[in-house]
Amino acid sequence: MSSDHVAIESSLQENRLFPPSAQFSAQSHIKSRQQYEQMYRQSIDDPDTFWGNVAKELSWSRPWDKVLDWKSPYAKWFVGGQTNMAVNCLDRNIERGLGDKVAILWEGEPLAQGKSPEIRRITYRQLHQMTNRFANGLRKLGVKKGDRVTIYMPMVPEAAVAMLACARIGAPHSVIFGGFSSQAISDRVIDAQSQYLITSDGGWRRGSVVELKKNVDEALTKTDLIKKVIVLKHTGQQIPWIEGRDVDWKDVIDGASDQCAAEPMDSEDLLYVLYTSGSTGKPKGIIHTTGGYMVGCYLTTKYTFDLHDNDVYWCTADIGWVTGHSYVVYGPLCNGATTFMYEGAPNFPDFSRFWDIIERHKITIFYTAPTAIRAFMKAGRELVDKHDLSSLRVLGSVGEPINPEAWIWYQQVIGHGKCPIVDTWWQTETGCIMITPLPGVTATKPGTATLPFFGIDAAVVDRTGKELPPNQGGLLVMRKPWPSMLRGIFNDPDRYVRQYWSDVPGCYFSGDGARRDSDGYFWIMGRVDDVLNVSGHRLGTAEIESALVSHEAVAEAAVVGVPHEMKGQGVAAFVTLKAGYHASDDLKKQLLNTVVKAIGAIARPDQIRFSEALPKTRSGKIMRRLLKELAGTGDVKGDVTTLEDFSVIARLKESDEG
Ligand code: PRX
Repeated sequence: MSSDHVAIESSLQENRLFPPSAQFSAQSHIKSRQQYEQMYRQSIDDPDTFWGNVAKELSWSRPWDKVLDWKSPYAKWFVGGQTNMAVNCLDRNIERGLGDKVAILWEGEPLAQGKSPEIRRITYRQLHQMTNRFANGLRKLGVKKGDRVTIYMPMVPEAAVAMLACARIGAPHSVIFGGFSSQAISDRVIDAQSQYLITSDGGWRRGSVVELKKNVDEALTKTDLIKKVIVLKHTGQQIPWIEGRDVDWKDVIDGASDQCAAEPMDSEDLLYVLYTSGSTGKPKGIIHTTGGYMVGCYLTTKYTFDLHDNDVYWCTADIGWVTGHSYVVYGPLCNGATTFMYEGAPNFPDFSRFWDIIERHKITIFYTAPTAIRAFMKAGRELVDKHDLSSLRVLGSVGEPINPEAWIWYQQVIGHGKCPIVDTWWQTETGCIMITPLPGVTATKPGTATLPFFGIDAAVVDRTGKELPPNQGGLLVMRKPWPSMLRGIFNDPDRYVRQYWSDVPGCYFSGDGARRDSDGYFWIMGRVDDVLNVSGHRLGTAEIESALVSHEAVAEAAVVGVPHEMKGQGVAAFVTLKAGYHASDDLKKQLLNTVVKAIGAIARPDQIRFSEALPKTRSGKIMRRLLKELAGTGDVKGDVTTLEDFSVIARLKESDEG
């Protein structure tokens, strides 16, 4: 935790209240605040009964002996139970009579002049067959239970098939966001010790092809761990082919049976690893296991979005993020829902694409990020108003605090005042939604994620773990384990304890600051560690710094977050150069490229400032607080008493920006 954050001030006051309509509450799964309170109490006081009852709704090949085994900070859920995520997402739904229901509804990005986009409707039965064939193909290639499979795919149904097939045969997947660079791929392949990689020739993004296979080829020059690369031919351009290593997806499924015995997975067997940024330079492989995560996905999707049989549900996240794992693939599918996937960019060919999609497919539940909402606001409501969005019933937000202005726009312009808004707070580590309104229950206020979900004992505390009074900012912690919580960090068990369970005694510390208002609502105030949230995506300042110092000209770099109108937070980099190197526009360009190459375009700094020195304390620690202030406001008014060399600030103020 950064020591620059001594106290967290909270000034945001927003008191407008939006209760759900009586009509909405009457049809929702949970109908009243009283019902929520009663269920919440049971989930906290008697978690075994609460979660045991939920888990019984799903399918297990062996029942559990014990719901929870908790030896802080290690939790085991549904101990002794065996199940399989793919069976719950597919077979169970077919058995319930949903075989002909559309499981994945997909739309491709390209729009030939005046033509409709490509649309695919894949029923539960078809998805079951596709998954089984591919799973059999993977087994034939040698993939066994426990082998980590890396997935680097565009947003196409086959990406979900790949995840489900891995789950079916018990091979944990490690999905890498398609916007990450080749360096990010090789780092993650090496950390996960993965021997199999599934990719595609490319994916469509804003009218161009993102060359995924090319990035993979480049990544694999840095490691020879990967034995097989399975390539889905999607965009169709020429790609280099390495005989013996590369295998066409078609050949993997060719002749494979559409029946595939699912691997019985122990409830605590690894389902997936997903890398996310932390406060060091090295991304952490967050571990999620099978049973508890499945139960969490199932219940949170059902209640947070008030999911019903005839809903057409669209979460706009990419499968490369945890939101894509839990709320594009696993949550909706294990509820037997129709999950909509869109391949491309929100602004292709212009910012009306999402509204076209909602109208065309009669989307009923729409879950997106504040950064997207702000971009839509900027593009103007005229684009929205041309469309019939009357199918929408519930709107969701995730990834960063939603500013009240964007909340109100979402509620009025997209939801026409009739759709409850669920502002959902959670993390890669939490696996599932933790703090959220429930659509038929919670009177919402713009900017707050409101109340904890069932089983979540969230609190705002000081560093000793003492709960703080209303409206005092503090640390957001969980005081009890929950089913979908991370079970560790891949290859780094000590970091799990250090990172999450050491700052506040006996609690899971989220890394976020928050306050609770007098109604008990949680207001998230952002990260208190060295993690940035750029467009709802997590980036470690240390990761960007280590990319910058990898350039031969750079002696030292410090990266801080600055407020950004669209992205929520932007990236500002302060750089000192080695002797003999001089600041120039060309060097600036080279540094930007170095970051993009090392991490991906999402990490590209918005500002680079060259400086002769960085402000440090006498013990040599960079004072990021001052850099943050300078990058954000152009001035430094904060306390500088611990600064070692006062002249640094004056020189920094003169430094070039942009
Ligand atoms: O700071 C919080 C912010 O996003 C962080 C988690 O990022 P990540 O693991 O990438 O997962 C994003 C999607 C779940 C949190 O620590 N965050 C997420 N949702 C919200 C949020 N901040 C405020 N309000 C939210 N609804």
